[in-house]
Amino acid sequence: MRSNQPQTIYLSDYKVPAYLVDHVDLRFELFEHGARVHSILTVRRNPQSDDVGAPLVLDGDRLVLESLALNGTPLDGDQYEDRGDQLVVADVPEQFQLSVVTWIEPQNNTRLEGLYKSSGMFCTQCEAEGFRCITFFPDRPDVMARFRTRIEADRSAYPVLLSNGNDIDRGDLPDGRHFVTWEDPFPKPCYLFALVAGDLVEKRDSFRTRSGRDIDLRMYVEPRNADKCAHALDSLKRAMRWDEEVYGREYDLDIFMIVAVDDFNMGAMENKGLNIFNSSCVLASQDTATDAAYQRIEAIVAHEYFHNWSGNRVTCRDWFQLSLKEGFTVFRDSQFSADMGSATVKRIEDVTLLRTAQFAEDAGPMAHPVRPSSYIEISNFYTLTIYEKGAEVVRMLHNLLGPELFRKGSDLYFERHDGQAVTTDDFVRAMEDASGRDLSQFRLWYEQAGTPVLTVRDEFDADRGVYRLTVEQTLPDTPGQTDKKPHHIPFALGLLDRRGQPLPLRLADDDTEAPTERMLELTERAHTFEFHGLAECPVPSLLRNFSAPVRLNYPWTREQLLFLMSHDPDGFNRWDAGQRLAVDVIQSLVGAPRDTQVEPRLVTAYRHLICDASLDQALVAKMLQLPSEAYLIELADEADVPAIHQARERVLKHLAISLRDELVACYRRNAQDSAYDLSPLAIARRSLRNTALAWLLAINDEEGRALAVRQFRDADNMTDRIGALRALVNSDYEDDRNQALASFYQRYQDDPQVVEQWFSVQAASDRAGQLPQIRALLTHPAFDWKNPNKVRAVVGAFAGQNLAAFHQVDGSGYDFLAEQVCRLDDSNPQIAARLVTPLTRWRKFAPAYRERMRAALERIRDKPSLSRDVYEVVHKSLA
Ligand code: ARG
Ligand code: ZN
Repeated sequence: MRSNQPQTIYLSDYKVPAYLVDHVDLRFELFEHGARVHSILTVRRNPQSDDVGAPLVLDGDRLVLESLALNGTPLDGDQYEDRGDQLVVADVPEQFQLSVVTWIEPQNNTRLEGLYKSSGMFCTQCEAEGFRCITFFPDRPDVMARFRTRIEADRSAYPVLLSNGNDIDRGDLPDGRHFVTWEDPFPKPCYLFALVAGDLVEKRDSFRTRSGRDIDLRMYVEPRNADKCAHALDSLKRAMRWDEEVYGREYDLDIFMIVAVDDFNMGAMENKGLNIFNSSCVLASQDTATDAAYQRIEAIVAHEYFHNWSGNRVTCRDWFQLSLKEGFTVFRDSQFSADMGSATVKRIEDVTLLRTAQFAEDAGPMAHPVRPSSYIEISNFYTLTIYEKGAEVVRMLHNLLGPELFRKGSDLYFERHDGQAVTTDDFVRAMEDASGRDLSQFRLWYEQAGTPVLTVRDEFDADRGVYRLTVEQTLPDTPGQTDKKPHHIPFALGLLDRRGQPLPLRLADDDTEAPTERMLELTERAHTFEFHGLAECPVPSLLRNFSAPVRLNYPWTREQLLFLMSHDPDGFNRWDAGQRLAVDVIQSLVGAPRDTQVEPRLVTAYRHLICDASLDQALVAKMLQLPSEAYLIELADEADVPAIHQARERVLKHLAISLRDELVACYRRNAQDSAYDLSPLAIARRSLRNTALAWLLAINDEEGRALAVRQFRDADNMTDRIGALRALVNSDYEDDRNQALASFYQRYQDDPQVVEQWFSVQAASDRAGQLPQIRALLTHPAFDWKNPNKVRAVVGAFAGQNLAAFHQVDGSGYDFLAEQVCRLDDSNPQIAARLVTPLTRWRKFAPAYRERMRAALERIRDKPSLSRDVYEVVHKSLA
């Protein structure tokens, strides 16, 4: 806790470290009442540093210093200064060993940073700055050391003792204790350090690398989860193979370990050789995990594994470069998921998240570039911009260079920088050097915040057979950035004739072998492209596969959108045309008189999607999802949430009433499955039948109700069981809702990951999740303020998904959120800061709402002793 204003850290202040640490020797004595950490650092002056007489400065946070010695000689109190967050030793030689003993209390660590306890086991989370909560150390990623770690603990309570690398020694100690020593041969920054001690079961598997080495794969979970490891281990093997095939990257240690822990601030962590996961992102069984969970687990296991090269072998110089590893690794895991399932569906999911949440971040008070230039608390910068927009930036490089040159560039990057801590600029330079392309303008994507807007106009010159397309780009101002320069944007497009045939794209009269799709490059504020040799005015299919993270404006008519929905050869754009049409229809009903007609052609289009079984069912399942309220709010200039909610509900109910029989038929056609599998088609069929159920229950259809009750009872997998539960919870059938909720809880009360889903189905429902019911959930015996997943499942789902209930005109939803943020701020500031997000968007809403949101932010601001995390978010939001 601080009393004065926290400091801002600037990229421009970066200096190489004055001292380097070559080796770290750690010994942990773990007890129930605390832990003693013995550390011996082998230190030398950095020859690259011109800061010659500099004192040795080590970071520390909440540490009790027990002893300190230099080259074996204890230091007196006047030879060092313990400033609380820094330990300063003024007079040190060129090379020396520093021995430090600290005392910490993992059992009282509710922040879940550093070493802490989760359901009886010890575990760590050191990224970004958690290692300083364990011992004094230069806690910055450009200090890379070899670690040796000895862990000592009670043998019966903690039979499993893990750290990075290879186990080289183990044995018994007096008093029923034992030890294991681990050695990691790869130098690494301390944020990749990990330790686990617990009573865990081990699941083993193995992987043979392409060079013929056998890797031991080990997964550690609590005994009750022993049957939920297979999917993660299979995903891991697929990821290992894929990274060899697609990036030429082989695993480098003999052991690869995965551990599941219940209390975890984020999704997972790529510690060298010892990945630690939030249980909800790694454990799965048919009876407890939805299709979405299975896919999320596959993606996150792959993500953390891919970090072994993009993050660990080549790491970040400083935390401003976070997207160097995160953006690249998200791009890699999305390519992997696309290869494992339906590539179009994966792209739709990624773009939906980007356009709904990242665009909102980019348009709000926390907007920042992919490579930020300042921060107060780095934990606040694990954002959609760093991760998702960062991945889009790498994807654009892939679009501009093509797969071969991109691979050449990534090979060069890994080879050139192996074992180094580098910058996003080094990454771009490798791509530049390998491809021979000039990417100087492209680098602006790392420096300029905000989402570019492309405005497209066109005209057809029938006499000359020339179609002229003008693309203009503008970049909105963001906090601290105005008058921005145009970006280098890959812009993929195609043109269709009136029968839906792709037309050759001739950029000149004599262009004979013209392709039907082109990746145009935009570099100026405006470009005009002329397409020659056309007999009729084409329909443009623009920004195919979402070739750049931009907002695209083109005045398609509803007729053209309907045409693209069924004819565009680009699957993504077929989906996008459907979304644009639905958005247009819903927007036209926002605040409109009750008797305003719902566009009849939307019904026709949806009927076609539901009934034509020859269409790609995975794509159809996505096309049937109406744009979310969150996305409609993001698109609005001044959002009136109740009006948006009502308009969307009206369209949904109108579609359900008009297509009632088709939905029942669709349900029945997709109801029969022989055995559960995770193919794109099987997933699509489950999605279709659950959408049909949801729509039928939205209109109180009795047959739909019977189908839902039966499916809830008979389901052989969690997707169907929770699909039926959600449909009932969101219906007017109050008795069925309450019965289903009670029986679901009864069945799964001992499984925390399922109970989390049970909480969030209610918290996200405008029927079951009004404020009094949310408050009741917070006092439910299964709710636990110390567990971030539970907090997210109730408070996060309410404020982030149950938008009509959250946005009450009396401000009660906002006050509720402010109250929970303040309550969490002392125990877990990272989670508290994340919960503030919905309030940071206050300027987006209609005046009555806006003012009350601001008042809630001010209440948080005025809490005494606010954490740095929440301070930064609240103050920037109010600025
Ligand atoms: N590097 C992790 C990942 O792969 C994220 C860990 C961040 N943790 C945190 N507490 N900030 O996504
Ligand atoms: Zn990551």
